Amino acid sequence: MNGERCAQITGWGMAVPERVLTNAELAKVVDTTDEWIVSRTGIQQRHVVASEKESTATLATRAARTALRVADLAPTQLGLVIVATATPEYVFPATASLVQDALGAANAGAFDLSAGCTGFIYALSIASDIVRSGGAEHVLVIGAETLTRITDWTDRNTCVLFGDGAGAAVVSACAGRCGVQATVLGSDGSGGDVLILPAGGSHTPTSHETVSSGGHFIKMNGREVFRFATTIVPKATEAVVEKAGWQLAEVSLVIPHQANIRIIESAAKRLGLPLDKFFVNLERYGNTSAASIPIALCEAINMGQVKAGDKLVLVGFGAGLTWAAAAIEWGVPTPVKPQPWPRRWFANLRFALATVRSIVRRVERRVYNWAMGPVRKDDWRGRLRQRIDRWWGHG
Ligand code: ACO
Repeated sequence: MNGERCAQITGWGMAVPERVLTNAELAKVVDTTDEWIVSRTGIQQRHVVASEKESTATLATRAARTALRVADLAPTQLGLVIVATATPEYVFPATASLVQDALGAANAGAFDLSAGCTGFIYALSIASDIVRSGGAEHVLVIGAETLTRITDWTDRNTCVLFGDGAGAAVVSACAGRCGVQATVLGSDGSGGDVLILPAGGSHTPTSHETVSSGGHFIKMNGREVFRFATTIVPKATEAVVEKAGWQLAEVSLVIPHQANIRIIESAAKRLGLPLDKFFVNLERYGNTSAASIPIALCEAINMGQVKAGDKLVLVGFGAGLTWAAAAIEWGVPTPVKPQPWPRRWFANLRFALATVRSIVRRVERRVYNWAMGPVRKDDWRGRLRQRIDRWWGHG
């Protein structure tokens, strides 16, 4: 590669569950109204997981497959998969490992990243540094959440806010001055209790009591988060614009974390930017935490609001408390030409084969464990093992 090595987004994708939950439906289960939710937050509906088959990993995998198709990249070309999430599939294994397996990304490392709603920008920052330094050619960054699985549906302070979904971006090496120009990351752990899932961790392990007292649901001091967000979003935006060596007026589009329209309006006012420079889709998805920025980025691209040469700012805040911003000079022509059907077909075949490969490896592991498990010498498995050992010269 000639010239400076940069990291740019070459593929993008999003996935949301089919089930839409409207404000009117919510008003039937908690003491709220469509009018209150719309006027205080801007949210009109959200997508929610409605079946056991849908989870953070399945949404992440769907978004990632689309991103790989857009980037026209084989999963085996990925060097790393990062999933930013506050609602992982399990505490361990990492959701990223499950996604890596589902994609057939056989040459990729994988890890999860926890930074609340800010997670996607943290992951993007790490990915672009790794790509720029030559540690990998292609990194897959995903923000994925099923927040409604940790939502208390009797708490009107929180249940009206959140939705589920996933967004993914392929970050690839490129030559020249394009892609991620600067990032700023921040944290103030003294505000950890402002937005917290109190139980289930090392501090308060799961018990009958934590379950019955609702310790596994989101607890939030909404006013505190609001105050923090309205201050930090403009600050982080200004900081990243300065670090990139840009002027605020040059910014084509700001893609903020989609939590509350009033937070976005306040940031626009403090920055002296018109509101139409801010991409907003929270009315349809609610707050999808780490998924909100990549979903918004995807929609902004698909709606023709992002063109090659545009200067974008992604800015987020969330649990931690954390905040982050990224300045990106968009380098990929949009809209992307649809792939010819044989390539699409081949990409789908690769994903199908990844599923088969995963099943075969699981079966292989079971057969191995069964064959190598404890057996009596005189039963047929023991005799078979002795014979195999003799064949291999161990007997
Ligand atoms: N329906 C009707 N009334 C409600 C509801 C509701 N869903 N929720 C709260 N109220 C009531 C309150 O009880 C309160 O009543 P009171 O005055 O009688 O006590 C009144 O409405 C006003 O409550 P506030 O909390 O002051 O309402 P506010 O205007 O601050 O809006 C909100 C609340 C929407 C939560 C706002 O504070 C906010 O958006 N905060 C930021 C939240 C956020 O972004 N969280 C995500 C962070 S990112 C992450 O990591 C997940």
